[in-house]
Amino acid sequence: MPVISFASSKGGAGKTTSAIILATELAQGTDVILIDADPAARLTRWAGLSRTPGRIEVIASKGEREIQDEIAAAKERASFVLIDLEGSASRLTSFSISESDLVIVPTGDEQQDADEAIETLAQIAMEERARRRPIPAAVLFARTNAAVKSKLEKHINTELRAATRVFDTELHRRTAFSSLHNSGGGLRQLDPAEVNGIDKAITNAQAFAAEVIDMLEESRHAAFA
Ligand SMILES: Nc1ncnc2c1ncn2[C@@H]1O[C@H](COP(=O)(O)OP(=O)(O)O)[C@@H](O)[C@H]1O
Ligand SMILES: [Mg+2]
Repeated sequence: MPVISFASSKGGAGKTTSAIILATELAQGTDVILIDADPAARLTRWAGLSRTPGRIEVIASKGEREIQDEIAAAKERASFVLIDLEGSASRLTSFSISESDLVIVPTGDEQQDADEAIETLAQIAMEERARRRPIPAAVLFARTNAAVKSKLEKHINTELRAATRVFDTELHRRTAFSSLHNSGGGLRQLDPAEVNGIDKAITNAQAFAAEVIDMLEESRHAAFA
């Protein structure tokens, strides 16, 4: 079943958080396996905080020698396999990207973030050439302001959208998203007495998940066309 990687050469871009958000959304309806392929093991840490919600299983990758087998085994067992990657180019990253049906590249909306996103897309393009197959990829604006954008933010947003494929949905900077790292679980397990804006965060997460599904469908049709 589809394999989705979260990649960016930049640490702190929002890979782990966005992977948790997508996984907990998808797991409302189906089985999801999350592979933690970052030696920093933030995903594994999240999974240890509380009982993982719904039908989620988190697997810590044993590294570059094992990752291809780990992905193959996960695909047999779950409807979606999500891989959280480390923030640097490595063989582990490269193997994971080459096994993916979609690579999501989270980015902020400062110039440096945009440059890093373009760099990550170039790495994905290298994998495409090496494997001689298209690897669908899209940039996801994450940790952006939910309020009005500054002129500069607007400019970078427009530039990146003109240069490459970008999700319409942005995963805005929200306390509900960052607090998942403290509480574990998904948005629906957060305590409304402690965390503001859970409803808005859920709506935001749902829009993101729906767009991911659309993108996977689209590339599946393109592959058979
Ligand atoms: N959409 C978001 N809203 C609020 N905080 C976020 C969001 N995405 C990421 N963060 C926060 O930013 C930091 C880095 O995010 P993380 O997902 O760990 O990035 P990466 O995995 O790319 O290194 C974390 O502290 C996380 O809580
Ligand atoms: Mg991470």
